[in-house]
Amino acid sequence: MEEQLDDLNKEHGDIYVWRMGTQVMVFLHSYEMCKEAFARQEFTHRPDWLFFNPSNEKVALGVGGSNGPHWHTNRRFTLRQLKNQGMGKSTLVSGIHEQANMLIGKFQEQAGKSAAVPYAIRVAVVNVIWHMVASITYDVDDPKLKEFMQLMDDFGEMTYYSTFLDIFPWLRNIPAFLKNRLFALDQVEITDQKFMNYFYEVIKEHKSSLDPENPRDLIDSYLLDTEGMEQEEVIRSDKDLALLIFDLFFAGSETTYSTLTFAMYYLAAFPEAQRKLQEEIDRALPGDVLPTLEDRASLPYLEAVLHEVLRMTSLVPGGVQHCASRDTHFAGYTIPKGSIINTAAASIHYDSRYWDRPESFFPERWLDEEGKFCAKKEGFLPFGVGKRVCLGESLARMELFILAVAVFKNFTISPPPGTPSTRRSTQPDPADVPRAKEVRILRNLRVRKLKMKIEEACMTIWIMVEDLRMKKIEEP
Ligand code: HEM
Repeated sequence: MEEQLDDLNKEHGDIYVWRMGTQVMVFLHSYEMCKEAFARQEFTHRPDWLFFNPSNEKVALGVGGSNGPHWHTNRRFTLRQLKNQGMGKSTLVSGIHEQANMLIGKFQEQAGKSAAVPYAIRVAVVNVIWHMVASITYDVDDPKLKEFMQLMDDFGEMTYYSTFLDIFPWLRNIPAFLKNRLFALDQVEITDQKFMNYFYEVIKEHKSSLDPENPRDLIDSYLLDTEGMEQEEVIRSDKDLALLIFDLFFAGSETTYSTLTFAMYYLAAFPEAQRKLQEEIDRALPGDVLPTLEDRASLPYLEAVLHEVLRMTSLVPGGVQHCASRDTHFAGYTIPKGSIINTAAASIHYDSRYWDRPESFFPERWLDEEGKFCAKKEGFLPFGVGKRVCLGESLARMELFILAVAVFKNFTISPPPGTPSTRRSTQPDPADVPRAKEVRILRNLRVRKLKMKIEEACMTIWIMVEDLRMKKIEEP
């Protein structure tokens, strides 16, 4: 799909229409256009698609798929609550540290073996959301959590089928048995219901122990919230709350842990970059500590690596669709009401107008001459841009920062033996399911070497290598 978009871009320029089924899809290929378009009210809507309204409500609920005053109220509420629960603040750091320590333990168990990236990486990210939403932290082996993860996977796969009904909406009118046969809609409904029941149970528990003076988390705050209730379009219901929570998990978990997983792939493929990062971490955080938000300034190379991974992986390559809520003039064209507006994010992230040698993994592009991190804005929109920009961006950044330090401070990641150690073709296939791939985690004994028992003969080699590194770091 990205290649086709690139071809269309070459042929038609930065804005063109691609009709898919009955849908008029407008693609934007320049950062400036995306910035201008998504700052406009008339391009803030989500399309009337099953993807955004999986429960097929009269009006879409929650935050990611809703529109108008209901979306506005829920977005404000959710942002405020995520901040109250510590997003972007030091109050959440200890919660993320807890997950980071869990992650270190699980990586330790896998050290020295070639295996898929541990499931614990997903757990860490999902647990942070559970903590903020419902004051729950699951044990990594909890069967209830495993069931929840499975539901998320199933749901993710099923949305693929509903896309056909969004692109060809007349298919919604074919007989139900045929629709179920072709698009597994009955399965989508069953999975959706299981998800909802999951959240309803947690909401019920919260209602029974609610203390209006001491809201514990996002669910309590929603139950007590009255903002926007004077407006007819604003809905407050268990279903709306359940869908809002669903949106946070759906939008905020796979995106974040896949970014971290891709960081591991990239740094396994580019050992020199991994070594540089580990040296920086050693200098900034000697001893056995995890970082706080204040340490960001002393870890510019880590910031650079994370930004470069976000750019190169472009996990949301076509952006999340917006819809024109009325006929609009834009960039010299008339965009008819109902057109679907797409951000060609992956294309922009590889556009040589914004990036020198865009195909190269080159974290240094994010550093100035003194090695300080400089946040470049033009041409960078992994979280979208404008009124509907990702509302969990600072949470994702916090998690990525702390969890990445936990991983690379304690472990060295390498490709499984037999795979070429450096892969120069740097663009991963966005269709890859990261957790299905393998990496090899090597214990990083730089910091812990005195504490650890040496169990395997091959570990000695790694210690020798690590010892040399320690000497090098200590040199003035
Ligand atoms: C690396 C991690 C992440 C990436 C790359 C990412 C990316 C995005 C993108 C591209 C959008 C669409 C913006 C648009 O419509 O133009 C979005 C929306 C959204 N994101 Fe994220 N996101 C990440 C993490 C998170 C986290 C941690 C949360 C919260 C727990 C979150 C919650 C949301 C929500 C609720 C929306 C919908 C906002 C709305 O429709 O108003 N995201 N994200």
